[in-house]
Amino acid sequence: MTTAVQSSIIIVPTGYALGAEIQGVDLRSPISEADVAQIRQALLDYMVIFFRDQQISEQQQVEFTRHFGIPIEHVREQRDRPIKEIFVISNVKENGEPIGALGNDEISYHSDLSYMRKPGTISTLYAVEIPSTGGQTEWVNCYAIYESLSDEMKTRLKGKRAVHRHYVESQNPQELVDQPVVRRHPQTNKPSLFVGPHLTKNILGVSQEESDAILKELNEVIHQPRFAYRHHWRVGDLLVWDNRATMHRREPFPATERRIMKRTQIFNDEIPYE
Ligand code: SIN
Repeated sequence: MTTAVQSSIIIVPTGYALGAEIQGVDLRSPISEADVAQIRQALLDYMVIFFRDQQISEQQQVEFTRHFGIPIEHVREQRDRPIKEIFVISNVKENGEPIGALGNDEISYHSDLSYMRKPGTISTLYAVEIPSTGGQTEWVNCYAIYESLSDEMKTRLKGKRAVHRHYVESQNPQELVDQPVVRRHPQTNKPSLFVGPHLTKNILGVSQEESDAILKELNEVIHQPRFAYRHHWRVGDLLVWDNRATMHRREPFPATERRIMKRTQIFNDEIPYE
């Protein structure tokens, strides 16, 4: 006789263009295969999923990330990290030295590591300390953005590639990396827009003037609130997102306040394709 294992997972969509809260999971404990399958499917369906009120160690965050692929040491080196797969995002300084990266300024829309030939696929971010104001993160649904474009714009973008480059030159690989302007998700097979204001430099095969005009028009679409979910961070939130269908931006926050977040990143060796 087989016994059906009851899942305790509850998936609560945010009601916005993307995002769902997953309830009924304690990330400190092993998760059954059936629940992992449900969580993975929720990530494909909602592109951003989050778990509130978690109390996890760095090792537990890395172990949880393994349900989605192989978390690897971040391309940007951080000193004195006991667990190399954890990348600290923080404005906090200890003994005059930053304990993490990305400071307190605004970071505009991007998909993680798009300046690498094989960019980030899935990322997780765990909130350890948050400021009393600002520092919220907003994601956009890039399938819906692409879908909303006019047929004329879709034809203009077909087959086009764009150069992605980190603004800190030393972060870039030696080669100049270009990516499809429209990428197809390897699991859902759906097309999504893959250019953003932070890391995309220019579209290849058209004049700089035309490239600037197209990117400006696309940026206006990307910033429409109907495509966004804004996450209001609470300490203990663990959020997972799929960079292959989303972009995100972070609001600035006061330099006088502390924000400490821990990220893991999966690469999975994927080269984006149209
Ligand atoms: C990032 O990956 O752009 C940082 C997100 C954040 O700090 O909320």
